[in-house]
Amino acid sequence: MERGAPTKSGRGEDLDKAKVKKLIENLRAEIHQHDHFYYVLDKPKISDGEYDKLFRELQGLEKKFPTLVTPDSPTQRVGGEPLKAFKTVKHGIPLLSLDKANTEEEMIAFDKRVKDALKEENINYFLEMKYDGLAISLKYFKGVLTNASTRGDGVIGEDVTNNIKTIRTVPLHLQEKIDIEVRGEVILPNEDFLKLNEARAEKDEAIFANPRNAAAGSVRQLNSKITSKRPLDFMPYYGSSQPGIDTEEKIMKYLFKIGFKSNPYLWHFNNIHDVIKYIKSLEDKRGKLQYEIDGVVVKVNSIDYQKKLGATARAPRWAIAFKYPPIQGLTIIEDIKVQVGRTGAITPVAHLKPVNLAGVTVKRATLHNEDEIKRKGIKIGDHVVVQRAGDVIPEVVKFVKEKRTGKEKEFKMINKCPLCGEELFRPQGEVITRCINASCPAQVVGRLILFCMRGAMDIEHIGPALAIQLYEKKLVKDVADIYTLKKSDLTKLERFADKSAQNVIDSIQGSKDRPYDRLLFALGIRMVGSTVASLIAQHYDSLEDLFDVKAAELTKIAGIGPKVAASVEHFFSQKENQKLIERLKNQGLPIKTKKVKGPQPLKGKTFVFTGGLDKISRTDAEELVRNLGGHPSSSVSKQTDFVVAGHEPGSKFDKAKKL
Ligand code: IVH
Repeated sequence: MERGAPTKSGRGEDLDKAKVKKLIENLRAEIHQHDHFYYVLDKPKISDGEYDKLFRELQGLEKKFPTLVTPDSPTQRVGGEPLKAFKTVKHGIPLLSLDKANTEEEMIAFDKRVKDALKEENINYFLEMKYDGLAISLKYFKGVLTNASTRGDGVIGEDVTNNIKTIRTVPLHLQEKIDIEVRGEVILPNEDFLKLNEARAEKDEAIFANPRNAAAGSVRQLNSKITSKRPLDFMPYYGSSQPGIDTEEKIMKYLFKIGFKSNPYLWHFNNIHDVIKYIKSLEDKRGKLQYEIDGVVVKVNSIDYQKKLGATARAPRWAIAFKYPPIQGLTIIEDIKVQVGRTGAITPVAHLKPVNLAGVTVKRATLHNEDEIKRKGIKIGDHVVVQRAGDVIPEVVKFVKEKRTGKEKEFKMINKCPLCGEELFRPQGEVITRCINASCPAQVVGRLILFCMRGAMDIEHIGPALAIQLYEKKLVKDVADIYTLKKSDLTKLERFADKSAQNVIDSIQGSKDRPYDRLLFALGIRMVGSTVASLIAQHYDSLEDLFDVKAAELTKIAGIGPKVAASVEHFFSQKENQKLIERLKNQGLPIKTKKVKGPQPLKGKTFVFTGGLDKISRTDAEELVRNLGGHPSSSVSKQTDFVVAGHEPGSKFDKAKKL
């Protein structure tokens, strides 16, 4: 708010607003600091609950006073309207590539080139990891993040500001109010990469080949809401020149000081032989890092020397990337066994003679599916080359022909589920064989886990381990049974005290008032993620209305294709599923959109609010719409019937006018 700017309602409100502004600023500073403790330093000072409370308080205030929202508010990390395309950005200084070395000799040759050009024998080298992700340039103006772009072809990149803002380790504002350009790599930690792929496989979505593709795909997403759900990380490796900073090492320390992450493996040495020794020692640690690296970058430490050495059109002369070879090894396939997933998908897995790949012992490798095994011609007993694909998931690359003895055995896909004994089924035209028995233990436990997950029914105290235990002890055989659990059932389990049992019961009870679209998602219907669930919930008031729904009817909803529709029709046509829903209803779960009393003049109409509302908060306005039978939405689309524009309406208003 501009100081002293008169408002229609006079000074009283002005003063109030000034107070709120201060309150908001304090909350932001506090949240900002806790983000730094949690994400950058990995040392949280408050519990998640306390943090959520602060965050919700800020959100509440910003909702009431939308004019006070600033671009660097922590609430802006959630992503916004989807884009049609990215704008292009011309980089002031091109983002160069790096020259590469694969051998010790090439490193020594680099050292010689540097020394010859500088006519200097004493060179200090600074070492950094070569992160395998997507290069990004961040521009800060007076300490506030104003623009983020991809490297593109080095000269022209894409404006991905909204997406980058969702990355928690990219500070929205710095500890100092400086102008600076920071470059670095957006990466996806290995563990998160695996989780992301698992979730995608469950939903029958294409999996990412490696963490780099996943990171790049997430940043180059037109819908920043999707990016915000990917646990991306940012590793800086460059900061534009700042007073008093004359070495690469000082830049890295300075970047840490102003709020960026720092890498524990930064090092410097006075001669190339020590550099090479260190690079070799890091190779063994490589497999154990939380993220992927494909080498080490060696930079001349002195900025003055860097300037003297300059760059070719392609790469600087003061740096070189030593690239590690892909992590591969030779071993034997002792057996091929199958695994059953949550959706009943059967995956063949190679059981290997243990082999060490860059410090990690590998005993299993995925063979993906039956056709993949045939395509590679792999047999049980084969000597094989295994590789940590994208250096993460071990996979079998090929068998070694020369080592064949003739005793190798062909793998035959089983025809009965190893867990429930049911006949397996491979739909025509698909590569995945499935167990379609809905009561197969793999599927039952999988459904329980999904049901309790965050974003689904969010039953905080039931995680995978407890879900398995509940199933094995026959306390729960489907999701409706969760609601019949008693405290005395839980105290019988190992390591369950009175208090922890009560926590479980409380979180179960607490889940009873989740909106019905969350329940629809939590049922674990194939191809129904949270977005599809909320789309369906907008068009059908109750789960019971879906019992005899036809796929053709569902495909009329924008965003629902024939495959998803068929899966939904199939699920609800099953008598067992209908019974399950009736039981959930009897347990007091909302299987309907909250019933609105009285006349419903807005039935079937979609409303979007934008800009500041004076007399009422946005939440209250949305509640009003709901009570009159309408549907409030956060984004403008062709389906929107009304846009309510308050003061200073944003891009939603522009979009509405266009449509
Ligand atoms: S320095 C002018 N340092 O590697 C110097 N780059 O192959 C150029 N990369 O586009 C960048 N880790 O995306 C530098 N520690 C690091 C790096 C790094 C990864 C990427 C970067 C660059 C590519 C060149």
